[in-house]
Amino acid sequence: MIEFRNEPLSNFHDPAVRDRIKEALAQVEGMLGQYYPLVLDGRRVDTASRITSVNPAQIDQVIGEVAAGDASHVDKAVEAGWKAFPEWARLPAEARAGYLFQAAAALRRRKFEFAAWMVYEVGKNWAEADADVAEAIDFLEYYGREAIRLGKGASLVPYPGEDNRMTYIPLGVGAIIAPWNFPVAILVGMSSAALVTGNPVIIKPSSQAPVVAAKWVELLEEIGVPAGVVQYLPGPGGAVGDALVDHPGVRFVNFTGSKEVGLRIVQRAATPAPGCRWIKRVVAEMGGKDGIIVDETADLAAAVQGILTSAFGFQGQKCSAGSRAIVVRSVYDEVVERLREGVKQWTVGKPADNAPMGPVIDESAYRKILHYMEIGREEGRLVAGGGPAEGPGFYLQPTIFAEVHPKARIAQEEIFGPVLAVIPAENFEEAVEIFNDTEYGLTGSLYTRRRDRVEYVREHMFCGNLYINRKCTGALVGVHPFGGFNMSGTDSKAGGPDYLLLFTQAKAVSEVL
Ligand code: NAD
Ligand code: ALA
Repeated sequence: MIEFRNEPLSNFHDPAVRDRIKEALAQVEGMLGQYYPLVLDGRRVDTASRITSVNPAQIDQVIGEVAAGDASHVDKAVEAGWKAFPEWARLPAEARAGYLFQAAAALRRRKFEFAAWMVYEVGKNWAEADADVAEAIDFLEYYGREAIRLGKGASLVPYPGEDNRMTYIPLGVGAIIAPWNFPVAILVGMSSAALVTGNPVIIKPSSQAPVVAAKWVELLEEIGVPAGVVQYLPGPGGAVGDALVDHPGVRFVNFTGSKEVGLRIVQRAATPAPGCRWIKRVVAEMGGKDGIIVDETADLAAAVQGILTSAFGFQGQKCSAGSRAIVVRSVYDEVVERLREGVKQWTVGKPADNAPMGPVIDESAYRKILHYMEIGREEGRLVAGGGPAEGPGFYLQPTIFAEVHPKARIAQEEIFGPVLAVIPAENFEEAVEIFNDTEYGLTGSLYTRRRDRVEYVREHMFCGNLYINRKCTGALVGVHPFGGFNMSGTDSKAGGPDYLLLFTQAKAVSEVL
């Protein structure tokens, strides 16, 4: 088998590639507004209530309508999943991996189409949407190979007179509860890891990105994944989400989203409903308050570029977003000045026109972020932005506050929008202390030219994904296994060699010879 390699990103400087994304955008625009029913046990199911998905960049444009399920649909989905389980679980790992490789090939062929859906549905620009599809392809290729490796079982210590083996068997029917911000990559990664290890999945997409999730489920059907193995069940978090988590027939929950919902899931899943025969496995990857440290020896031009990209890429709506810059006092003023200059490149406009920054996801996010901008005016000195931006959607200016205290709300709470807090530190050691002083622990970066400091932060910056002299977003599958510490989640390390184990249980069989 060909060794795993990351999917290359598209070069949008090439006019031919620009034509392809423009064609895909025109094609997808012609498909907007359709209806997507639930998919339960291979059948289309209509519901009385529906979710309307709108373009956050142009709020009078409907992306599609999807059926909204309830607890009765959860019962049906769980039953259908267990019906499909024995056959799916019995398939050799190579056969299930084959589905992932086929899905990767299909996604590669339809790369620009899937990117275009995200441009419309969540407001990603071309490069962000393209990277999202590339990451999804990577997950499929990587987990396919990992499943084949795991299928060979563990290597055990030989023991005289015994034949000992340990194999990794599936858990059962699982719920995949996904966020909207990587609506292809994370959904594909979470669902394919569970599928390839032999588990049927019930996909509950985010209500902000249910249409592109329906496209993923359609693609799996097209490549022949059997009925009941993948089911599509959108619906309100409080109804369908709770019902899935509570259901005695759900064996595991693979969740990515906010800290609040993640903690609720952890708590509910720990209380078995009558008839539940297992301790539910919960994988919960949650928020971040990620930071970038700049010391007095750093290449300041590179640091400023890294800070801006980490803070404002996809409007700051990444769990990995660098929403804090922690800068050593002796270079602080210069860094703030360079940020004020550099942020002018981050113009706001339509994702379909490939503007550097687009809208935030919905009205509730828009209002919440504006509120944080108000708080920021009291907690720091406004350097740039600070309010709404022009446009027919939820547009906000990229916003920078300087002289922010490490304990300020905008330095501690996940805003999930284009707001950067620049925090001064007296020296490098204090900068590291400030970095560690939040309840989260997802990503971080250090810009320095000092070798001893690189070694120091390997041990002392407490986060799941630490980068040196680069931005803190953009983890690559297989290269930077991803997951956070503390309230950032269960540190599952998606895209890493241990991830698939989370969806298996190991069975050891010992035979006396
Ligand atoms: P969210 O928590 O609001 O929603 C995530 C999913 O949970 C959605 O499908 C939602 O419908 C569902 N949900 C809501 N209430 C539920 C309930 N009671 N029971 C079960 N499910 C329920 O998060 P979001 O706004 O979609 O995503 C943004 C958040 O996700 C941010 O906090 C971000 O940092 C985090 N995130 C983390 C990672 C990571 O890998 N750590 C990656 C992406 C996003
Ligand atoms: N995995 C995504 C990143 O690293 C969230 O930016």
